[in-house]
Amino acid sequence: MQDILERLARKRDAARAGGGARRIEAQHAKGKLTARERLEILLDEGSFEEWDMFVEHRSAEFGMADQKVPGDGVVAGWGTVNGRLVFVFSQDFTVFGGSLSEAHAEKICKVMDHAMKAGAPVIGLNDSGGARIQEGVASLGGYAEVFQRNVTASGVIPQISLIMGPCAGGAVYSPAITDFIFMVKDSSYMFVTGPDVVKTVTHETVTHEELGGALTHASRSGVADLAFENDVEALLQTRRLVDFLPASNRERAPVRPTLDSPDRVEPALDTLVPANPNKPYDMKELIGKVVDDRDFFEIAPDHARNIVVGFGRIEGATVGIVANQPMVLAGCLDIDSSKKAARFVRFCDAFNIPLVTFVDVPGFLPGTAQEYGGIIKHGAKLLFAYAEATVPKVTVITRKAYGGAYDVMASKHLRGDVNYAWPSAEIAVMGPKGAVEIIFRADIGDPRKIEERTEEYRQRFANPFVAASRGYIDDVIMPSATRPRIARSLAMLRGKKLENPWKKHANIPL
Ligand code: HXC
Repeated sequence: MQDILERLARKRDAARAGGGARRIEAQHAKGKLTARERLEILLDEGSFEEWDMFVEHRSAEFGMADQKVPGDGVVAGWGTVNGRLVFVFSQDFTVFGGSLSEAHAEKICKVMDHAMKAGAPVIGLNDSGGARIQEGVASLGGYAEVFQRNVTASGVIPQISLIMGPCAGGAVYSPAITDFIFMVKDSSYMFVTGPDVVKTVTHETVTHEELGGALTHASRSGVADLAFENDVEALLQTRRLVDFLPASNRERAPVRPTLDSPDRVEPALDTLVPANPNKPYDMKELIGKVVDDRDFFEIAPDHARNIVVGFGRIEGATVGIVANQPMVLAGCLDIDSSKKAARFVRFCDAFNIPLVTFVDVPGFLPGTAQEYGGIIKHGAKLLFAYAEATVPKVTVITRKAYGGAYDVMASKHLRGDVNYAWPSAEIAVMGPKGAVEIIFRADIGDPRKIEERTEEYRQRFANPFVAASRGYIDDVIMPSATRPRIARSLAMLRGKKLENPWKKHANIPL
């Protein structure tokens, strides 16, 4: 017995030592924490239950038979975040560069399978040199086993990926399928082919950071949702995100008690929209004033900034917020913003999170870049996502809601449950000037006439009342009362039941 206990202790020590002091030091020197240190920050103190600490690889090629580290380069198991169950795996770069062997993949798959049974999120901390080169195809098989589970779990349990080191080649596709990707600045990168291959094939010279660093993906490509300064910040913000999310599609997000009254009025909102309809204002000011305690978790703030998406709470319950941002591209919808918002809307719908939409949209962005890039199909994604969503949908038009973009942004016609407008709302096929120049083309040479017609059009259409007279708008509300009106609507909708007809799955324009 004593023998076994000693052996157990030795094995545990070996697993905890990972790749050894020298490699741990190298990890720290790069500004990175170790796999275990990361889990200590991510999970509630003392809550981590580790599984498969004694798993070893089964490869004998290239001298691997006598190079075995218990755990095989990934620390896996479950724990809690603010008392709520989550499943985790954390790749250990100090052991074979965190590379994925068959056994390493099996550990990840075990955690994912349990997460599905228990109905709890999976959080993956990625720091890996990719497929375990010594294992070859067994490693590729392991990746595909993980991919399959990512896809099966999509829409059932939230999946969050943190990229905290290398993530290259086919290995990028597991995080790509998950719901959220967070990266750490300067120490993480993601690309399908690295700078050397790029140089050989396209003759472009590019650094790791430029090609696939955190800033590149959080702003330019939109692959990452957020870029953080360091491991600690990324892990703490992940805890914050988990607090907003339900454990699975079978459950509601947790309700957090708040002293912030749902009846709070915000007089400052009555003057938020400038008198000049072409002057921008910051939509985030409205969001901050509407959600509980000003607590808004923005997703992808640096990508497609013409639309703002993220999580907040109203009366303690999580809501997904989607809002056009007049400060960027006048709030127009374009390819990137349509894709960003569509994915967010689908996440919320899959996980029973009500949607609150703030609309100030002059239309779709014109131009050859947009048309050649396929704005028709990409814009349709957002329309599709809203139309398909069965969660409660409350919409507030603050200013412009023109043309097709009016329809897209959770309008009544796409089963918006409650649609409000501020008195400053302009709901029309297009802006007054553009409209007059088309319908009174003959008068274009006469500026006075055009001016008169424009004013006439503005009086007639650039207001919320035409839409309200048809019932497309349920009420014209005072901006200051936006929070109470939304809160009351969401309370009314708490028992909403709506189902789409049975189908294997829809065919969203991809
Ligand atoms: C086995 C690996 C490894 C790998 C790194 N190591 N990558 N072992 N398989 N894929 C080991 C190294 O041998 C080294 O071991 C230790 O990890 C640290 O690696 P270094 O090179 O010293 O670290 P660093 O200089 O920081 O460079 C990290 C790196 C580099 C950029 C990740 O190691 C690298 O380029 N690795 C190969 C990446 C790769 O080509 N992977 C396969 C891609 S294909 P010691 O014992 O010296 O500490 C792929 C396809 C997936 O992943 C397909 C899915 C469908």
